[in-house]
Amino acid sequence: MSLLMHTLHVELGERSYPIYIGRDILSDPSLLSRHIRGRQVALVSNDTVAPLYGDAVRAALGDRDLVTDIVLPDGEQYKTLDTLNHIFDRLLACGHNRSTTLVALGGGVVGDVCGFAAACYQRGVDFVQVPTTLLAQVDSSVGGKTAVNHPLGKNMIGAFYQPQAVLIDTATLHSLPAREFAAGLAEVVKYGLICDAPFYDWLQDNMPRLLAREEAALAEAIERSCASKATVVAADEREGGIRAILNLGHTFGHAIETAQGYGTWLHGEAVAAGTVLALRLSARRGAISEADVEGFITLLQSMKLPVVPPEDMDAEQFLTLMARDKKVLDGRLRLVLLSAIGQAEVVDDVSEAQLRELFAA
Ligand code: NAD
Ligand code: GLY
Repeated sequence: MSLLMHTLHVELGERSYPIYIGRDILSDPSLLSRHIRGRQVALVSNDTVAPLYGDAVRAALGDRDLVTDIVLPDGEQYKTLDTLNHIFDRLLACGHNRSTTLVALGGGVVGDVCGFAAACYQRGVDFVQVPTTLLAQVDSSVGGKTAVNHPLGKNMIGAFYQPQAVLIDTATLHSLPAREFAAGLAEVVKYGLICDAPFYDWLQDNMPRLLAREEAALAEAIERSCASKATVVAADEREGGIRAILNLGHTFGHAIETAQGYGTWLHGEAVAAGTVLALRLSARRGAISEADVEGFITLLQSMKLPVVPPEDMDAEQFLTLMARDKKVLDGRLRLVLLSAIGQAEVVDDVSEAQLRELFAA
């Protein structure tokens, strides 16, 4: 029996869309079908998630002229142009036209690749996000960033392209491996740090409930995270300004992911260690206290997330990789730091010497 617990809206004029949060809702035909305009659907998933939830989603699609399963190999290392091309090959070979809808069923990798495929296929077709990892439910499925990786940098080839709807089924989190679940929690905590101090306090009090994957706690954390994300995206869809705060810890984190080889450190793990660095810098600038940093580290440790970068990464490697960050503007590195717990800012005045000192500590 499905239970719809929250409905939020990403307000973007004619590109506005709902986010549904509930239990067992991916098999609810009334939710998914209302966001599929045409008679053709391609269900894009991977070889881990498709066997778990593919049948339920397919059943919820109702009667269609054409339903094509596109099952990708699982892993960040497949978030590539080759995989994108495979999707196009399948869509064309099966006769999908411009009225088709792509349904992304999976984590952030499937969502990002499928969303980019939807942005490009026949100059743009509809797509719906059905995120099945915590990270995808609170972050990647909302906001329309789609991309694939390039060997020289993460998410370097992509588009802003909004879905028709996001369907978040909390029941899917029960099959998620613990390490993936913890990685998603890193992004949940991010919202508390950047824009919602009461939520940060709530997370500190309720982390044991979240780690036990209690239904009500999960729905609350997802709803509050998505509400923050929806507000930021509505204010700055294409990251001309404020949206950059969603990248707290990511400039360091992306450097870690690229240095280690995509898929070695999980995105959320790299973000966790990167956020510790961002908070240390914020504390050195006097914006937050050392006790705040230590409190954050304790929280991450309770989630079994890394709190320091990989041992084999040195300052040189960080600086080289960070120079390729998408936030670099006119040669200046821009970093997201905290101005207080629950408040973030983008700064461009951190010197190379300060960064070297940070990495040496
Ligand atoms: P992922 O998509 O690789 O999923 C993690 C693992 O969990 C995979 O093995 C997947 O098959 C498996 N899985 C997914 N759902 C499952 C379930 N319910 N039960 C069991 N196993 C399940 O990783 P992710 O953490 O979801 O996403 C990371 C990606 O998201 C990165 O590529 C990152 O760049 C991207 N991202 C994008 C945005 C954005 O705004 N577009 C934001 C954050 C991250
Ligand atoms: N995850 C960062 C963003 O969506 O902008």
